[in-house]
Amino acid sequence: MNAVAAMAQPVEGAADIGRLRGFVTAFADLLAATRDEGAILEGGRALLSRLIARDDWLPEEFTRPHPDRYQQYLLHCDSRERFSVVSFVWGPGQSTPIHDHTVWGLVGVLRGVEKVERFRQSPDGRLIPHGEQFLREGEVDAVSPRIGDIHRVTNGLADRPSISIHVYGANIGAVERATYAPDGTPKTFISGYANGVIPNLWDRSRNA
Ligand SMILES: [Fe+2]
Repeated sequence: MNAVAAMAQPVEGAADIGRLRGFVTAFADLLAATRDEGAILEGGRALLSRLIARDDWLPEEFTRPHPDRYQQYLLHCDSRERFSVVSFVWGPGQSTPIHDHTVWGLVGVLRGVEKVERFRQSPDGRLIPHGEQFLREGEVDAVSPRIGDIHRVTNGLADRPSISIHVYGANIGAVERATYAPDGTPKTFISGYANGVIPNLWDRSRNA
């Protein structure tokens, strides 16, 4: 087999990255059709639910936990930074700080279980617990300044990693936002990403 033919062959056991390509294309179509946040969250929830209904598309290098801290792997950023797609990987016992987003976001669990603790901020700045929930594989949660934007997310499994796919209404790795101390004191941060290379969605010789 020559080199060109070899490159065109589907890779045995490789992730079906075409599913992620279809997702980001559909999400760009959604954002072209509406700027209404409620419509984006409703339509985006359906798209994300479909993406995470199967676990055969995320390349292994974006599933790796870090022994000390949760990982945020950028999977795709829209060329106009209208949205970004991120793989979050929590090792056993790992947790985010309490934080906000300042833009709309969708969280869909691909593997494992995630515990979400929600908070509201009182007028004097204190954080008030506003419920908690365990998200399981295939389930989707939403955040935004309009519907509730402050939470803490923890791996709900003590013995293995959990992975969720997040979509945000911006390049979330460039957004200035805040973490919160338990007394509500905010601290500005920009989250960035763990990876220097993103998945190649565009090699159509591998999957249609
Ligand atoms: Fe979050």
